[in-house]
Amino acid sequence: MADLTPLIAEAQQDFANCHDVTALENAKAKYLGKSGALTEALKGLGKLSAEERPAAGAAINVVKQSVEQALNARRDSILAAEQAKQLASESIDVTLPARAQAAGGLHPVTLTLRRVEELFHSIGFSVANGPEIETDFYNFTALNIPDNHPARAMHDTFYVDNGTDSMEHVLRTHTSPVQVHYMETNTPPLKIIAPGRVYRVDSDATHSPMFHQVEGLWVDEQISFANLKGVVQDFLQKFFERDDLTVRFRPSFFPFTEPSAEMDMSWNGGWLEIGGCGMVHPEVLKHVNIDSEKYRGFAFGLGVERLAMLRYGVNDLRHFFNNDLRFLQQFIK
Ligand code: DAH
Repeated sequence: MADLTPLIAEAQQDFANCHDVTALENAKAKYLGKSGALTEALKGLGKLSAEERPAAGAAINVVKQSVEQALNARRDSILAAEQAKQLASESIDVTLPARAQAAGGLHPVTLTLRRVEELFHSIGFSVANGPEIETDFYNFTALNIPDNHPARAMHDTFYVDNGTDSMEHVLRTHTSPVQVHYMETNTPPLKIIAPGRVYRVDSDATHSPMFHQVEGLWVDEQISFANLKGVVQDFLQKFFERDDLTVRFRPSFFPFTEPSAEMDMSWNGGWLEIGGCGMVHPEVLKHVNIDSEKYRGFAFGLGVERLAMLRYGVNDLRHFFNNDLRFLQQFIK
């Protein structure tokens, strides 16, 4: 009987050329199908003598098993390849680079406030805070601005509707009420600044309905207007990094100071108004039980956005509050 061993290599080659299961089933028929080579060989066993038959049968079976093994191995590898292909087509590429995280930065008004606090801190002022929703008493009355006083009209005001007709609460129109809160709970000597948000019905290139002020207050036995000038000028020179910067005072009126003045600073050959100031009015000290015969003090209020605009060269105050990243990103260090 012919040697069937070469069929193994032949079958392996045929199976290797198949790339899907259908082709493989067709290739299988040539060896193991109804009239396949091995099936025919098995059929031929009947023609052999009883002595020859066992050895011939065993030889055929060895080849048959090898061919079946090759078939199964090829089928497994075709199925595995098909599965891998399907997984690849359905997969999500989780290795996509992440979107870059934009670096944040501090708002120019915050940067300015921090600079102001740092500079005043260096000459011994601490920072005090007060509520943004004030009572009429703290915002006006305790500051010697009685009902119907014309100075109230200068503070076009947001009143908070508290369900009654009395309109007792206002969004504070200045940081001056913090003076009163602080003097109620502390005894002289007092040396504070009070930075924070204030609100007025005002809106144009140099006014915003919400803006920031820094209040200053120094109360002690020997405080004079000269101290006020020294502190403000020293602060402004440091803030703008200009030793030649000077301040001047123009007589003015505020109900909570006497005398009162507007402060101007020298700027590009002219003068720019930067806030109000004065010596704390005895009436204000009386409200907070400080003996005005013994103690005197000065107070001032500066506009923070004004300082920021000059320092950074910003020509429209509204830029600070429009949240335009093109503007804000310029302040990221
Ligand atoms: N509170 C005033 C305002 O908002 C500014 C001011 C003036 C504050 C004189 C003061 C001061 O402390 O003494 O217009």
